[in-house]
Amino acid sequence: MCGIIGYTTKKDNAVNVTISGLKNLEYRGYDSSGIAFTTDRVNIIKSKGKIANLEEKLTQQDISSCCAIAHTRWATHGEPSEMNAHPHRVGSVTLVHNGIIENYSQLKEELISKGYEFKTQTDTEVATAYIDYCYKQTKDKLQAIIQACSKFRGSYAFNIIFDDELQTIYATRKDSPLVIGYSHEGNFAASDVSAILNYTKQYSLIDEGEFVKINKDVVTFYNTKLQIVQKEIKTATWDATQYQKNGYDHFMLKEIFEQPDVIQNIYNRYYDDCSYNDIDFTKFDKIHIVACGSAMHASLVGKYLLQTYAKIPVMVEIASEYRYAEELITPSTLLIVVSQSGETADTLAALRLAKEKGAYVVGIVNAVGSTISREVDKCIYTYAGPEIAVATTKGYTSQVAVLSTLAINAMKQNGLLDAENEKTLKNDLLNIKEKLEDVLKNKEKYLDIAKSIYNHEDLFFIGRGIDSSICMEGSLKLKEISYMHSESYSAGELKHGTISLIENGTPVIAIATNEELFEKTVSNVKETKARGAFSIFITTSAHQDYNFDEFADKVVIVPNTTEFTQAILVVTALQLIAYETAKLRKCDIDKPRNLAKSVTVE
Ligand code: AGP
Repeated sequence: MCGIIGYTTKKDNAVNVTISGLKNLEYRGYDSSGIAFTTDRVNIIKSKGKIANLEEKLTQQDISSCCAIAHTRWATHGEPSEMNAHPHRVGSVTLVHNGIIENYSQLKEELISKGYEFKTQTDTEVATAYIDYCYKQTKDKLQAIIQACSKFRGSYAFNIIFDDELQTIYATRKDSPLVIGYSHEGNFAASDVSAILNYTKQYSLIDEGEFVKINKDVVTFYNTKLQIVQKEIKTATWDATQYQKNGYDHFMLKEIFEQPDVIQNIYNRYYDDCSYNDIDFTKFDKIHIVACGSAMHASLVGKYLLQTYAKIPVMVEIASEYRYAEELITPSTLLIVVSQSGETADTLAALRLAKEKGAYVVGIVNAVGSTISREVDKCIYTYAGPEIAVATTKGYTSQVAVLSTLAINAMKQNGLLDAENEKTLKNDLLNIKEKLEDVLKNKEKYLDIAKSIYNHEDLFFIGRGIDSSICMEGSLKLKEISYMHSESYSAGELKHGTISLIENGTPVIAIATNEELFEKTVSNVKETKARGAFSIFITTSAHQDYNFDEFADKVVIVPNTTEFTQAILVVTALQLIAYETAKLRKCDIDKPRNLAKSVTVE
């Protein structure tokens, strides 16, 4: 996902401040970057690769400027290149963009017929040209932006500079995130608050269809009728240090080790404010949980808990597929959307579809003030704090934790939680921190396993029931950061075809935490061992005295808990195995190739 930031100031340090803020957006994933800064004209510098390459170019010129806009590009239209990098400039308009203009081809044809020529393959250059075209017609900047945006289909967050107003930034958004930041020395427009936290904690959110004129000392919000809109000024509750590694080698490792506090805080909050309690599950005739990637894997754990313990049928669907299930969505549907970033386009599209159908939509979101958090009927924040590493860890486990509290809530409503069970659960939830810390201590074991698998190119995760859902997250973690191909498979299903891929030395990670399914999973592991697999067996302390010699080459034991928290402990071990494996394979752990932290394009 691209990142944008603009800054206009009373001083002449706009370039340094903008680049500094842009670095806080690196976590979103990118392949090139660029900046436009104004002097008596617009100066544009762009480079492929890391921001350091852009900085190198900037050292070769005078960068005193009071106004700048900058961009990190995650390529969607046109290869990663200096030419395709933003900012783009057409006529008297210079612009940076996060999102996709889906109808750019037809707009490009229209502009070509009006004499415009294009240098790049990007949709953004077309958007820039269209605003320039409208400005030539209207002679009014805001009118031009409104008119052009009315033609755009797709998503956008724009920062725009016009040649005849070199100290002002115009901004607007649709579907892509954008916040306005306020400081004593100047004002910002950026993709998220992380970009401005080095300079201010004061920010406002831009709603869909609003337009902003940003000067160094005044910021004005307009609606499409050019009426001035008053906006609340919010204060960020976190600070820039949370965007530092604080001594860890990688953000991912830091965020893995934050999990004991993050998860304990969620459970403590559950027992204190019970804000989750006002969802009346009995009011709905069906429950859908919709998300992408790891958030979908967390949703599967939530489904298991709601079905197994609250006896409530649940459908989990990948967000990009949910639109094909729209016939199932009615005003009696409860849709739960799960999203760490709160900006994932597929998930946003799913919630908008459900709301059109009259469904009640609950969001489980980490990023406070994000688009999804503002569009759902009820938002339950995970309060995990900023997650910088592209591969989610605390984002996933905090989603599982919140979903587990919803399941407990549903059990109570359905009269399925007796005093004894509630006491057991409360003890489990309120003491999870030390058990999670025990899992984190096992570094040597995870490194030993990593050494035994890192030089393989194919690996399998197998499990049954809730363990099958945990396998999906373990497999994604390994793939994302170590680039090893792995596949998660229901343990009982492997023998129906895929076991043909098991050959001598093929690593198989088996997860067996569910008591009733334990022996069946052991049998499935033996089937793979019989074909030469190298087996890594993960179970709980309830089975620590089991004889593993016959079928397990490596064994990982995690503390035994109820199934409401068990996935959190097991996935933490899998996160660390993936982390150590990626380190051995010398991968870019925090910013894996091709990936973005939040995918704001469909
Ligand atoms: C997880 O490691 C990935 N980064 C990805 O699967 C992510 O979970 C997915 O894109 C959903 O993101 P969200 O939670 O921000 O909506």
